[in-house]
Amino acid sequence: MIPKTNTNSQLITIERHILDSERKLPEATGDLTNLLYDIALAGKIITNHTNKAGLAEILGDTGRTNVQGEVVQQLDEIANQIIFRLNDHTGRLAVMVSEENPDILPIPEKYKTGRYVLSFDPLDGSSNIDYNVSIGTIFAIHKRLDEDDTGPGAVEDCLQKGRDIVAAGYILYGSSTMMIYSAGAGVNGFTLDPQIGEFLLSHPNIQIPQKPKYFSANLGYKKQWCLGAQKFSEWLQGEEGGPQNLSLRYIGSMVADFHRTLLSGGIFYYPVDTTNPDKPRGKLRLIYELNPLAFLMEQAGGAASDGEQPVLDLKPAHLHERAPVFMGNKELVQQAEKYLAQYG
Ligand code: AHG
Ligand code: MN
Ligand code: MN
Repeated sequence: MIPKTNTNSQLITIERHILDSERKLPEATGDLTNLLYDIALAGKIITNHTNKAGLAEILGDTGRTNVQGEVVQQLDEIANQIIFRLNDHTGRLAVMVSEENPDILPIPEKYKTGRYVLSFDPLDGSSNIDYNVSIGTIFAIHKRLDEDDTGPGAVEDCLQKGRDIVAAGYILYGSSTMMIYSAGAGVNGFTLDPQIGEFLLSHPNIQIPQKPKYFSANLGYKKQWCLGAQKFSEWLQGEEGGPQNLSLRYIGSMVADFHRTLLSGGIFYYPVDTTNPDKPRGKLRLIYELNPLAFLMEQAGGAASDGEQPVLDLKPAHLHERAPVFMGNKELVQQAEKYLAQYG
């Protein structure tokens, strides 16, 4: 029997989607299109490696050490190399910045530079690799400050506000691999079909649901948080007229925690740990972790705040600057700001 098909449904690959978006967006030049496509390609290659994470010791032919724990390090480094090497010679980028490198990553002199700046966290949630739990890659794209400059990009090009992001997204290596991106005209999600090696549009025009379902934070550290964040957490659990039915989920891979928050409604937050003077602004990094996700959250109708102002309005002073974060449904983020203003 011939299976019934829905003649209205289209199969849209990420390549087709990016190309179609390019026609609608003044910002999206061919360069941006190709850059996004190269990131999708990096996602496919990294998927291949993450899928083999637990096998590195068994296979033993990787040339890597067998010491437990080092595989985690290696996957961070492998992902970092894949993204760099796919993008260093294309002529589309002026400079890159990665979580794994203390300084900017210049384009090698033998290659041309381009108009864009790529910031990335090659592997987010890497403490979860040993436990076969979802991990991800996060990225943001800016234009370089002087678009006519054909020389190498500089650190200032990387220190731009999230508000000036041209496109951003993440790749989630979970029970399936997904790529979620926005080029400033909504958020779209694609799922990798491993049989054909293509990302197919599975989540068009993602909007955060109005009714929140989950809250997500590492409550293990609650006692170390500032009083405002503690009080806000209690409100989330129904104190002082707070919601009565929010469920708690926390994975410890921000990409995965964010993805669930985006699709289900709710809030993800990571406040300042007041007992850790080394990290006076929390743990998560502004440029390549928070800004891309804040951009997506705003595009999807939600909000992202550092507790006082929108994350996207923060001006980074350093490449690896950190910030506290509260992101999800607008009214929950506003409530967090209220508690922080009241209790500090
Ligand atoms: P990374 O693996 O890129 O260093 O990031 C880890 C981050 C983030 O993914 C997650 O939200 C957070 O660390 C979890 O931290 P805690 O273990 O302190 O909850
Ligand atoms: Mn990270
Ligand atoms: Mn990382």
